[in-house]
Amino acid sequence: MNREKITARLLEAGIENAAGEAALLTEAFDNEALTRAVERRCAHYPLQYILGTWDFYRERYKVNEHCLIPRSDTEILVDTAIKMLPNGAHFLDLCTGSGCVAISTLANRPDTVATAIDLFPQTLALATENAQSNNVSARFTPLLANVLEAPPNLLFRDTFAAILSNPPYIRDEVVPTLQQEVAHEPRAALCGGPDGLDFYRAILEKWTALLSRDGAVLFEIGYDQKQDITALAAKYGYTCDVKKDFGGNDRVAILRRR
Ligand SMILES: C[S@@+](CC[C@H](N)C(=O)[O-])C[C@H]1O[C@@H](n2cnc3c(N)ncnc32)[C@H](O)[C@@H]1O
Repeated sequence: MNREKITARLLEAGIENAAGEAALLTEAFDNEALTRAVERRCAHYPLQYILGTWDFYRERYKVNEHCLIPRSDTEILVDTAIKMLPNGAHFLDLCTGSGCVAISTLANRPDTVATAIDLFPQTLALATENAQSNNVSARFTPLLANVLEAPPNLLFRDTFAAILSNPPYIRDEVVPTLQQEVAHEPRAALCGGPDGLDFYRAILEKWTALLSRDGAVLFEIGYDQKQDITALAAKYGYTCDVKKDFGGNDRVAILRRR
């Protein structure tokens, strides 16, 4: 199948960026593998999982069904962290998934060190592999833990300069209405509870004791969560500044102790 034919097939299947995707697929596959890849894409299986790797910030990540596909909007969180972290900072990345937030921050701030947490062993294994392929594994500690519960005892109070987190934040009832492709991503990476705020609440209540005195919390938030996160921050004694993403939507909340 040539590129024009593939573009036509993808368009017919309702894929928006058909020409761009056809180019990526023909670069990555040929012969039967290409035919199979096009069929899967026409069935709305995510392009990123078919390719097996995806670029985020300045790094390349292995991706599969155990992780959320890194989104360009999340680069705002990374960019903010890279600019804000103090010299030699040790930071936490809660709900690390592919590891993209911690790893791109480490790769672009060689003076920093990270502990990255996820609930699922296979997800954490993928993050560990990504830390290796991006040459930051000496500064990346993966840790299996439940962010909705209190931190494990091996993490000490007053030690981290920042908590970074892009947690699941979609309201449970909204998840089934999302794009077809999203259905192939882990549900646990999306569902933030009935009001979408379960993880923000748990982090502010249980994890901020690990922060040093001037420590900051950097959250990615949903486009409609500025008010909720500002109110939640105030309740726990934090100020809250919100930054917008490339599309002009509210996206990153920066919380500091009052
Ligand atoms: C929205 S994804 C974000 C992944 C990555 N940080 C990113 O920005 O692409 C949320 C991640 O939280 C993890 N997760 C879900 N529930 C969790 C829990 N209770 N404790 C720790 N991690 C959890 C999921 O496995 C998923 O990797």
